[in-house]
Amino acid sequence: MSIILGIETSCDETAVAVYDSGRKLLLSSVIFSQVKLHEIYGGVVPEIASRSHLEKIDIIIQAALDQANINLNNIDYIAVTNKPGLVGSLLVGMCFAKSIAFAKNKKLIAIDHLQAHIFSSFLKKDNSNNNSIEDVPFPHICLSASGGSTVIYYVKDFNNYEVIGQTIDDAAGEAFDKVAKIIGFGYPGGAKIEQAAKLVDFQDFYNYTRTKNYTKSLDFTFSGLKTAVMYDLVKKDAYNLQSGPVWEKITPELQNKVSSSLLVCIADIFQAKIELALKLYPEAQAVTFVGGVACNNYICDRLNSVTNNLGKKFISPVCKFCADNAAMVAFLGAQKADQNKFSDYYLDVLN
Ligand code: KG4
Repeated sequence: MSIILGIETSCDETAVAVYDSGRKLLLSSVIFSQVKLHEIYGGVVPEIASRSHLEKIDIIIQAALDQANINLNNIDYIAVTNKPGLVGSLLVGMCFAKSIAFAKNKKLIAIDHLQAHIFSSFLKKDNSNNNSIEDVPFPHICLSASGGSTVIYYVKDFNNYEVIGQTIDDAAGEAFDKVAKIIGFGYPGGAKIEQAAKLVDFQDFYNYTRTKNYTKSLDFTFSGLKTAVMYDLVKKDAYNLQSGPVWEKITPELQNKVSSSLLVCIADIFQAKIELALKLYPEAQAVTFVGGVACNNYICDRLNSVTNNLGKKFISPVCKFCADNAAMVAFLGAQKADQNKFSDYYLDVLN
């Protein structure tokens, strides 16, 4: 029966949300994305990220309180992401959270960003105005794929989950972003790759090599895929190993075909991992798909059908809750408050 303020500043989104655990209702969620500030550099610049958080944090907190129609006195707990992430960015959110907690005598809750993503599946999965919480059955398999990590978890409950597979090199989002850069889509590239692939009906034109054992292990490897795309472009005279992309050869048709082949390849890999995970953990009742890459409708559709065919439920939140947000921080904060898991003012980032 508590009102939780969630604060998320681990990377390039300043996000704040308010969750009412008594009514199981998300009262507000406000996100300021810094993507425009970083895109000219082709990736996130840590110093720019932390400065922008500092400029925006009070405004976003006020906006989230206004949207929830409450003020700081109505808040019971403050949940804040303290790891993992960019140190300067995390420090902004954490210092702000500590200051409010101290000034208003509220309890502080430390949130692990990756753990928050796992339970973002409980946030509403459609764009309706119904802000209530999903019922996600335990145990379940969670595939979490973003720009910085790609992990499969076996989730028994809010406190009890284990990593059963993860990338040994690049993350899936990184593969999308790196290939997007090679073919001239800029940063971040995942959404643009999906749009381009749709134009050619998600066909697999180039059949990029899937690693030999990709159906036999729950671990991922994506760095070879980026190299496979690059060498295929070299064969097509569209990439030079010394000087990079040969722009006059990278036509819209080639961009679409590369995008589509890459997307089908990554979807095939994800599908194989989910099939294997459900074989190894038959007691799992559902599959959840979270993280920025879960914004991809094509991959969601593929995983939805394979999961349903195996008689399990498939759950993936709407895009704004797949990508970085504070609703997942406030929601996980509520679970931790129920278990009396609070932090003191010695809370630090990254530990
Ligand atoms: O979770 P997230 O918002 O942030 C961090 O990784 O911190 O994930 C961002 C990643 C980027 O790599 C982006 O290219 C990818 O998610 N992404 C997508 C799509 N939308 C975003 N990847 C594939 N298809 C999409 N539609």
